[in-house]
Amino acid sequence: MVKVIQVGLGHWGFDWAQSVIPTVESVDMVAYVDGAAEARDRVATMLGVEEGRLYASLDAALEATDADLVLATLRTEAHHPVVRQALLAGKHVIVEKPFTTTIAEARELVDLAAERGLVLMVSQNYRHYPAPLMAADLIARQALGHVSLVGIEFRQHAPTIGYRYWDFPDPLLADMSIHHFDLMRMVLKDEPRAVSCRTWNLPGSPFANHPVGVATVEFSGGTIVSYRGSWMSGGASTAWAGEWTIDCDGGEIWFTSRGHGHERFARDSVVLRPRDKPAERLALPDVPHFDRAGTLAAAAEAVATGRTPPGFSSGADNIRSLALMQASILSTQRGGDWVRIDEVLPDPPPI
Ligand SMILES: NC(=O)c1ccc[n+]([C@@H]2O[C@H](COP(=O)([O-])OP(=O)(O)OC[C@H]3O[C@@H](n4cnc5c(N)ncnc54)[C@H](O)[C@@H]3O)[C@@H](O)[C@H]2O)c1
Repeated sequence: MVKVIQVGLGHWGFDWAQSVIPTVESVDMVAYVDGAAEARDRVATMLGVEEGRLYASLDAALEATDADLVLATLRTEAHHPVVRQALLAGKHVIVEKPFTTTIAEARELVDLAAERGLVLMVSQNYRHYPAPLMAADLIARQALGHVSLVGIEFRQHAPTIGYRYWDFPDPLLADMSIHHFDLMRMVLKDEPRAVSCRTWNLPGSPFANHPVGVATVEFSGGTIVSYRGSWMSGGASTAWAGEWTIDCDGGEIWFTSRGHGHERFARDSVVLRPRDKPAERLALPDVPHFDRAGTLAAAAEAVATGRTPPGFSSGADNIRSLALMQASILSTQRGGDWVRIDEVLPDPPPI
């Protein structure tokens, strides 16, 4: 059993504690931390966590317990100080996406974890679903040949689905597209070279900043990804991972992943359309732990055995997804000009 301290029991952190952590048998929760008494009280009253496992600071929890792993479920600006403190205390870490606010912060944490031989994982929960894992495998095996063009559509209507981050500086690119950018790298097993991006707001939208955008991403292997995302779509919603059309020499791979609520898992689908043959919907493999349970189980496995299961997203790997996100934001600020990834991440750490 891997002994875990969870830090951050706000809206999303509470959901981790309530619906994710209890499903991962390999972890033993030794402490729950939040600076706000109200957040600690909610965990005590609604989840029955005893007073002895609740702490107001990570310092106090580190002092009182002998944990292996710190799970940081905090807002992005709090990730760097908390993860740094955990690594300096010799603890392995799993942290919510997006990894950090800046590349420099991420780099410092990646280097610190490497120096100390500690696991540092970013919880990119969309990786832990059968459809993107299968699409990645089909592409790696060149099942339909070389990939030239990928189209990704993401549509949701934030005002009617309980969205709450209206003031985020980059609600599409930093809060949502980071999942899609990270999946692009995992599915294509390729690294982006440059991106051109535009984002915008709509008249009367509740967002303070830009909830809609388009991006063109050029990958090192020559594949071009055309991405369109909207938090303010009046059309039919896509699943959270979006709808992917992957155009190959010998046909098309189509997939979608991560439904809503009870449909989370069931909506995953992969369709293979070889040229001149009928389309075939593929049977998907079972994934024992999916979504955030998948990331937590993967982190626990890495800590316990040193093995990194499929979909594992180390800090060193994830800094490249963060760089694509930062380059997209920069491109937007420059009116859609192409931004090379090496402008924001000139010297990527080894994966
Ligand atoms: N992966 C996903 O699909 C997904 C979905 C929603 C949210 N998120 C992420 O979850 C994160 C958290 O969002 P939220 O809605 O829970 O935020 P929130 O503001 O509701 O909660 C943050 C909590 O952290 C506590 N906190 C802050 N600094 C602390 C510190 N140093 N020590 C202890 N406690 C501290 C606050 O008191 C608060 O209770 C965000 O980064 C968001 O991107 C991810």
